[in-house]
Amino acid sequence: MQQTLEEKIRNRKAKVGIVGLGYVGLPLAVEFAKAGFDVIGIDIDESKVAKVNAGESYIADIPQGAFGPLVRSGKLRATTDFGVVAQLDTVNICVPTPLRKTKDPDMSYIVSSCQQIARYFHKGMLVILESTTYPGTTAEIVLPMLETGDLKVGRDFFLCFSPERVDPGNPKYQTANIPKVVGGSTPACTEVGALFYSQALEKVVPVSSTQVAEMVKLLENTFRMINIGLANEIAMMCGRMDINVWEVIEAAATKPFGFMPFYPGPGLGGHCIPIDPFYLSWKTKQAGIEARFIELAGYINGQMPLFVVDKVQNALNDHGKPVRGSRIHILGVAYKKDIDDVRESPALDIIQLLERRGAKLTYSDPHVPHLRFDSKELCSDEASMAKADCVVIVTDHSGFDYQTLIEKAPLIVDTRNALKGVVSDKIVRL
Ligand SMILES: NC(=O)c1ccc[n+]([C@@H]2O[C@H](COP(=O)([O-])OP(=O)(O)OC[C@H]3O[C@@H](n4cnc5c(N)ncnc54)[C@H](O)[C@@H]3O)[C@@H](O)[C@H]2O)c1
Repeated sequence: MQQTLEEKIRNRKAKVGIVGLGYVGLPLAVEFAKAGFDVIGIDIDESKVAKVNAGESYIADIPQGAFGPLVRSGKLRATTDFGVVAQLDTVNICVPTPLRKTKDPDMSYIVSSCQQIARYFHKGMLVILESTTYPGTTAEIVLPMLETGDLKVGRDFFLCFSPERVDPGNPKYQTANIPKVVGGSTPACTEVGALFYSQALEKVVPVSSTQVAEMVKLLENTFRMINIGLANEIAMMCGRMDINVWEVIEAAATKPFGFMPFYPGPGLGGHCIPIDPFYLSWKTKQAGIEARFIELAGYINGQMPLFVVDKVQNALNDHGKPVRGSRIHILGVAYKKDIDDVRESPALDIIQLLERRGAKLTYSDPHVPHLRFDSKELCSDEASMAKADCVVIVTDHSGFDYQTLIEKAPLIVDTRNALKGVVSDKIVRL
């Protein structure tokens, strides 16, 4: 079974399925189609399926026109019908793994997509879970759904976990050149999984089990989350002592060893850093271990929108204006630079907190024309910036005209050091 599948993979005859065509799944589907495989994307969202089949990209990192030729040549197509799994040799699962309000993992997307896959699952398949999740998910949730009847993992089918490390908006590292960690349920599974990825991606890093691969992702993102928490706490300390935290970090980063710069900001955002560490703390709690670093960093990072709002209020007061009734313009609402993703964006909290204090809010973001949250709907309105009493830079998109902003705005709160090096009384930094 292993040899047959490996041969199909080497000859590019394996039929590849990607379940979940979002930020992770679509780029992966495109890479495998480019490598010469017949790829079918499966998604429950009909509009995404229609766009893929029309060769239209809805992911900012995939330029328009990048996969149209692959669709036209029949190498890439999409469907909402899981029945195609019956024809597939491999399936990568890239569905969402959000947290519930209680910070418990929401496994429902993994479970429902696996239930669908299981209906059409057959001998000789390779299944790889890519969604970020707690250690043990592949073995405890996915494996029992597939290892039914007399099907045996490592003999009749192959199961792996491979963490997705894509970094939206990163021009240097994208799906193809980010090393791919993969761990299988058995050594044979790891071998097949590693062979599969090596056909389309530059570097593959095999590890000994699905649990190790799951934990790799959580270590990476917990490392980031905790270090950002430290940078945020240092920013609060520096704020009290009237020290420029950005200058401190920049100078510390000249040390050629033993220091890696992390930067403060208005709060964590996106689908990974604010969420993934809580998968780990949830899991370890069951083993009686409190993940104290994670909880503490989560608390500090969670305070940042409030810290920013207090800065804005103080800055307005220093300019003789109460926050109530003031016009505040939020510049940038995506959770990070040069992307269009507002999931968990601190801008949403900042808008809400300022509105609660009576301010009148507007925003502009060339990547986010409309903002819908909490039964509110706002439209990006650059012109309103000219009338604002205070402009808050929440996202430091490269396309912003900072020069005009400095000339025209009466007061600027810069949470990203976007105005680095500019000396002016009207700029308040984090
Ligand atoms: N976005 C990132 O930067 C990033 C980076 C690394 C890891 N991840 C992880 O990868 C996973 C996917 O994230 P994403 O950002 O691509 O999410 P996304 O929301 O952009 O895409 C997920 C897709 O899955 C589809 N979907 C949901 N349920 C489905 C089902 N039952 N069957 C088929 N399709 C279904 C949705 O319609 C959507 O198109 C998550 O676990 C996330 O934590 C994301």
